Amino acid sequence: MQEYKDSISRCENLAELDKIRVDLLGKKGLITAEFAKLKDMNESEKKAFAANLNKLRDEFESLISAKKTELESGEIKAKMKASAIDVTLFNEPSNTGALHPVMATMDRIIEYFMMQNFSLEKGPLIEDDFHNFEALNLPKYHPARDMQDTFYFKDFKLLRTHTSPVQVRTMMSTKPPIRMIAPGAVFRRDMDLTHTPMFHQIEGLVVEDEGVVSFANLKSILENFLRYMFGDVKVRFRPSFFPFTEPSAEVDISCIFCKGEGCRVCKQTGWLEVLGCGVVDSNVFKAVGYKNVSGYAFGLGVERFAMLLHQIPDLRSLFEGDLRLLEQFK
Ligand code: DAH
Repeated sequence: MQEYKDSISRCENLAELDKIRVDLLGKKGLITAEFAKLKDMNESEKKAFAANLNKLRDEFESLISAKKTELESGEIKAKMKASAIDVTLFNEPSNTGALHPVMATMDRIIEYFMMQNFSLEKGPLIEDDFHNFEALNLPKYHPARDMQDTFYFKDFKLLRTHTSPVQVRTMMSTKPPIRMIAPGAVFRRDMDLTHTPMFHQIEGLVVEDEGVVSFANLKSILENFLRYMFGDVKVRFRPSFFPFTEPSAEVDISCIFCKGEGCRVCKQTGWLEVLGCGVVDSNVFKAVGYKNVSGYAFGLGVERFAMLLHQIPDLRSLFEGDLRLLEQFK
């Protein structure tokens, strides 16, 4: 039996140890065979023999189990050593991404209006004719619909051409006063140096009891906003037309590239058009069931702001995913 004890203590792996266990204690094992002899013995022989045998078996069991624990912990240690990471090793610099310039610009604009207590509203990209046009004082077959080339589905569904329908949805689902912006993607059938079929707008709307807000408030908030975005620029309001506002204006800033001298970007005018705005047309309030209120609204294209802020000449390059462009915005 000593030779078995020696082989247990010399044993170097779990498989070998298990073989020794089977040889001794398995069904056909040495000790198991000894136990079989008991049935041929008389009572007095049996007692002493069995006591010895039990002691021997217990001894082997505890030797094997102790060895097993030792070998297992050794194997765990070896495994850990083999898969260890050396944190002192030189590490390749990893290539992290950055926010897309359009999203970064959008965030900056949203941040400004949040500071001015505007709430953030959302609407669906697939709109219906009522929210996108009718309620905004653009009746069917009205020529002003041609201002926005539209992607139509069946049943008067369409891809929204602007974020103005979110005005309508917000007014119809809440009561005045309202002070909201609605950022998001819009879609038009258009594609050239300054147009893409999908782009982003931010719509703004303020509604108060009649007489509380005026064009002067609109002017002041937009002037401050544009100086926040572009720094020290001149701001000018030009009379214009939108079906949903009356009076309406387009807003220009003095050209940030030539400081108003006249250059290629401002087409020698010294001015850059950056947004549209106006006093909400009474027909819009009628469509959403609002009475005795007044308000103002504005809308802007986020890509236009991003292009001006970062001097990106071709709008389409913002949608190509070219890393040579995007890596400049880290
Ligand atoms: N929805 C207009 C467009 O997509 C932008 C706009 C102009 C929104 C004037 C307004 C506004 O709320 O008052 O061209």
